[in-house]
Amino acid sequence: MTALTQPRPAETTATAGASTIPAGSPLLLLGRRADPDAERGVLCPGDLPSASDPDLADRARRARAALGDRVIVLGHHYQRDDVIRFADATGDSFKLAQVAAAADAPNIVFCGVHFMAESASILARPDQTVILPDLAAGCSMADMAQHSQLVDAWARLERAGVATTTVPLTYMNSTAAIKAFCGEHGGAICTSSNAPRAMRWAFEQQGADGKVLFLPDQHLGRNTAVLSLGLELDDCVVYDPWKPDGGLTDDELRAATVVLWKGHCSVHARFTPQMVTAIRQELPGVEVMVHPECRYEVVRDADRVGSTGQIIRWVEEAPAGARIAIATELNLVKRLAAEHPDKEVVFLDDTVCFCATMNRIDLPHLVWVLESLVAGEVVNEVRVPDDVRHWSRVALERMLALPGDDASLLAAR
Ligand code: 13P
Ligand code: SF4
Repeated sequence: MTALTQPRPAETTATAGASTIPAGSPLLLLGRRADPDAERGVLCPGDLPSASDPDLADRARRARAALGDRVIVLGHHYQRDDVIRFADATGDSFKLAQVAAAADAPNIVFCGVHFMAESASILARPDQTVILPDLAAGCSMADMAQHSQLVDAWARLERAGVATTTVPLTYMNSTAAIKAFCGEHGGAICTSSNAPRAMRWAFEQQGADGKVLFLPDQHLGRNTAVLSLGLELDDCVVYDPWKPDGGLTDDELRAATVVLWKGHCSVHARFTPQMVTAIRQELPGVEVMVHPECRYEVVRDADRVGSTGQIIRWVEEAPAGARIAIATELNLVKRLAAEHPDKEVVFLDDTVCFCATMNRIDLPHLVWVLESLVAGEVVNEVRVPDDVRHWSRVALERMLALPGDDASLLAAR
């Protein structure tokens, strides 16, 4: 426990200044050179203001004011405090997709990570631009599922004779090309706030023999299938895109109800069930709230599991004096602790656990994109090619048409 009072096909073309960066391995050092296999860009050329400029916040304020309704700034809950305070709307990835879809402003500055900006671009009007202040703000989980790997996986399901009864369901944290594949093959997208509903929907698309291929987060898929839909752990198999045949026999694929992609979030995979046990001993009466990207054993032992937006709501609703331990990204947990001094809000891990890529969006990058817009220049635009856009939009719209959000994955237990 940390006391918070202390401290493939070219999917997207992203333009940074005059250069064009093809998007499409998670292990490349950020900012060093272009990586054609990464979901995100890795370069951020541009005349960035110095991080030590004491006038940065004022510059952001002035540029924001000068732009008026020509821009809307969106901020994901994992963003740094000094960035998120400039957001016109904050939210989890589901809410931000809804806001982007309804936005009127010609420019959408997305303070979040690449797949979120890409989703906003898919949902936005063609005349709107979506800007990601640092194109290297990717998501290592999204990089764990590449389009060519999904094509191979689908061929594997075909060889096992189960593709026709399988619905592909991808987590929002995936490339536009993966989303498009799902849209084109009768599938959809989900976020952490609606995964149970989306998985139920996917099963409804097929008869009793129906299967779901869930990617790229094996943990969200397993938690949803087992803890929310009531399936057994043995109903799920893990497809490893780096192993021949996905590491599964035909019989294993035929017997499975849910085929989970072998991907995970490096931030959330750090939390362990031992941490849950330890915090319960340390803080009697504590309520443990976790994000569904955490491992099954952590979610199983927690009191509540939900998206970033749902966790925020539960903390707000908790009575004064409540003890709450949270397993999600640290920027958000620190902010919640500061905003609720009447409650004891602590981080579940012993060590610092930021999402490094979310943290790439800093004030110098925000000032740079806003001041560039004031000067009439769009930098770091994220735009999805039309062919990918069509089917990824179909998949996103299927998700947006699902009713409401799920109050809690665990509510159904
Ligand atoms: P939310 O959908 O809960 O905002 O989560 C997005 C994410 O990337 C969590 O790691
Ligand atoms: Fe991706 Fe994990 Fe960061 Fe979320 S917290 S953006 S899943 S790396």
